[in-house]
Amino acid sequence: MKFVFLLCLAAGVAAAASAPVPLVVAHRGASGYLPEHTQAAKAYAHALGADFIEQDLVLSKDDVPVVLHDVHLDAVSDVATRFPGRQRADGRFYVLDFTLAELRQLAVHERINLRTGAPAYPGRYDSQRSPAAFRISTLEEELQLIQGLNRSIGRVAGIYPEIKAPKWHRDQGRDPSLVVLPILARYGYATKADPCFLQCFELAEVRRLRGELGWKGRLVMLIGGGAKEVDGTDYAALCTPAGIKELSGLVDGIGPAIGRIVTWPSAGGAPVFTDLVRLAREAGLGVHPYTVRADDLPRHCPSLDALHEALFITARVDGVFTDFPDRTSAWLRRAGSRP
Ligand code: G3P
Ligand code: CA
Repeated sequence: MKFVFLLCLAAGVAAAASAPVPLVVAHRGASGYLPEHTQAAKAYAHALGADFIEQDLVLSKDDVPVVLHDVHLDAVSDVATRFPGRQRADGRFYVLDFTLAELRQLAVHERINLRTGAPAYPGRYDSQRSPAAFRISTLEEELQLIQGLNRSIGRVAGIYPEIKAPKWHRDQGRDPSLVVLPILARYGYATKADPCFLQCFELAEVRRLRGELGWKGRLVMLIGGGAKEVDGTDYAALCTPAGIKELSGLVDGIGPAIGRIVTWPSAGGAPVFTDLVRLAREAGLGVHPYTVRADDLPRHCPSLDALHEALFITARVDGVFTDFPDRTSAWLRRAGSRP
């Protein structure tokens, strides 16, 4: 299949005749070990051998795409203490309200639960005990880092940028896709032969990327675990044969929540699989589910090994987003699915 063949090329591995090598996508970098989306997390992901490294992208006040998961700054930075009074009426601090020069002043830490102030994932990097100087990066800085490592290590890690909240940005009079695409092109990511998957959760924006904005590279439609996205994208409808058929004319692959593929209905019980991977495969689409987290397994899933086995052996997905690229790669090597 065209998609699988390109995956193998992009990963820099030979396409085995019968068993394509599943891709390991470092989710927000090696975020199981270092604060998400920091350059340290990206460099470590590269060192751990990730095939692709993810960038979530939002815009600054001066229209610079920066690598952050949320349109808010509160959960991963010291914005509330550094810029008191700059929150909106809802009490949140928005990336869009800060210039790049201001964003550069923020200290980035591991994700916290805003209600409790406690780390979202206890046991991961602890910035209270180890307050290293992590900073927000621009998209360009991250591409420079990854391409620099590609050269110095001699192995190409691809990129997996996501246009975050395009409808919300456009409601604010801003257009992240319009800013991001020229940067990607300038750094050599513009065609399906380039090691890049562009992704988005909003169907209207995916259509726009392929149509009006003329994105010729690989494109992935993300499929959330909930009912609908803010732009009205109906995820359940996308998972039907008609939905997948529509997507097959638009994108190269899908990135569904793991629960769209497999669930464990009861403790100690067997996993139950949907037909989503089969539908996608028959339509020529690749499947990269999210997110494998060793410390936050799906409900009732007994172990990380069980999760990997369900996704790679039974469902036969083409790759996964993982917070622990080393552990996913190690499992694939043990299974004989990775050199
Ligand atoms: O983009 C796919 C994966 O990253 C999961 O989504 O919410 O972590 O950006 P999210
Ligand atoms: Ca993402």
